[in-house]
Amino acid sequence: MEKPRDIKAAKGKLGVLLPGMGAVATTFMAGVELVRKREANPVGSLTQMGTVRLGKRTENRAPLIKDFVPLAALDNLVFGGWDIFPDNAFESAAHAGVLEPHDLAKVRKFLEGISPMKAAFDQNYVKKLEGSYVKKGKTKFDLAEQIEDDIKQFRKKSGADRLVMVWCGSTEIFLRPEDVHQSIKKLEEGMKKNDPAIPPSMLYAYAAIKSGVPYANGAPNLNVDIPALTQLAHDRHVPIAGKDFKTGQTLMKTILAPGFKARMIGLSGWFSTNILGNRDGEVLDDPESFKTKEESKLGSLEYILQPHLYPTLYGKIHHKVRINYYPPRGDNKEGWDNIDIFGWLGYPMQIKVDFLCRDSILAAPIVLDLTLFLDLAQRAGLRGIQEWLSFYFKSPMCAPELYPEHDLFIQLMKLKNTLRWMRGEPLITHLGTEYYD
Ligand SMILES: NC(=O)c1ccc[n+]([C@@H]2O[C@H](COP(=O)([O-])OP(=O)(O)OC[C@H]3O[C@@H](n4cnc5c(N)ncnc54)[C@H](O)[C@@H]3O)[C@@H](O)[C@H]2O)c1
Repeated sequence: MEKPRDIKAAKGKLGVLLPGMGAVATTFMAGVELVRKREANPVGSLTQMGTVRLGKRTENRAPLIKDFVPLAALDNLVFGGWDIFPDNAFESAAHAGVLEPHDLAKVRKFLEGISPMKAAFDQNYVKKLEGSYVKKGKTKFDLAEQIEDDIKQFRKKSGADRLVMVWCGSTEIFLRPEDVHQSIKKLEEGMKKNDPAIPPSMLYAYAAIKSGVPYANGAPNLNVDIPALTQLAHDRHVPIAGKDFKTGQTLMKTILAPGFKARMIGLSGWFSTNILGNRDGEVLDDPESFKTKEESKLGSLEYILQPHLYPTLYGKIHHKVRINYYPPRGDNKEGWDNIDIFGWLGYPMQIKVDFLCRDSILAAPIVLDLTLFLDLAQRAGLRGIQEWLSFYFKSPMCAPELYPEHDLFIQLMKLKNTLRWMRGEPLITHLGTEYYD
């Protein structure tokens, strides 16, 4: 048996800070309150519903994850956030239209008590949004300092012992890593000179890490995924994770593609279309924000199918992703996939997946799990990129010398083995020869 890691107890309140109080963030907050009131179940949340098998199969030990590792209790969560609109969480949730009015009514008072702080925002990075509820500052560095101050004030006012921040803001335009992102010194200088390669989301990530607050990025923007910030997180003992919540279509892709590869079934094309009508859809209607999302969505197949190892099966794939803003659908997206596969002797077949999904219903439990696991990671002394949380992301962050792991089942095994490792339990290899000796 390994020695268990020293994990500090989850004492006191855990503050959850959400830049971007839109559909995902409000569905998450409302959902946590509905679960706390015993009005609903936390479906989709591994931390709340999942178990972890321990020891041999004959031992029948499979505790709930939340009983196995010391996670913060839902009753101890308190919430805060920022937005470019002054609407409180109830107004914003009503506008997003994800939850039914009868559900929102049950948590109305609670949601009305959560009002956003003024955002650090710049329309150059999200062309489709125009907001008035924004911070003023001469430089990006000033704005980051104001966010740090907000964090301090929130900590005081809420009485939270520990904090976690999860970016639930809009998808910003596509940016590539540049020289200014390479070290913290360069980044800070760039912030003082208002370098255009530094979008608002980076200011939140910077402020969080400087304040010792674990940070996850739910959108596909660069955000925390730059050497300057991954290094800062490492140096300051802050866990970070990203990017882009793995919810509807990409979740399906990372479930199906490993199956094809496992059975050596070939793939010649994968055409994915989406129609959605929420604010996220409107933001993604701008080609520059869409480019950020497209890059994030395209990566998974390449990494799962490994065409360099299987050129005959996966050497020539036509992979297309389209997102169309279509208001009548609201948050209830339709993700339609046409998959061209081939089998024995190269004979072609097709699979059609039509996923009528609810974007924010799929994303909310991810926000919860990331919050609780990042807080756990910090109490367990883990720092920097938390690759074991790849399970939750479309474009998982990992060490520069590695390639990201996209296969959902490998990701899950990695996550659960990390929990076993934390608690000093033997890792599960699925070898199992001992049962037949
Ligand atoms: N299934 C999903 O819903 C899903 C999956 C993966 C990723 N995402 C990403 O999560 C994010 C949130 O999605 P959503 O559906 O809640 O979108 P949304 O448009 O409803 O909410 C985003 C909110 O962020 C605010 N915002 C924008 N820039 C900001 C800034 N600089 N500071 C503070 N607030 C800011 C907007 O005003 C808006 O209220 C998006 O980037 C989206 O791409 C969502």
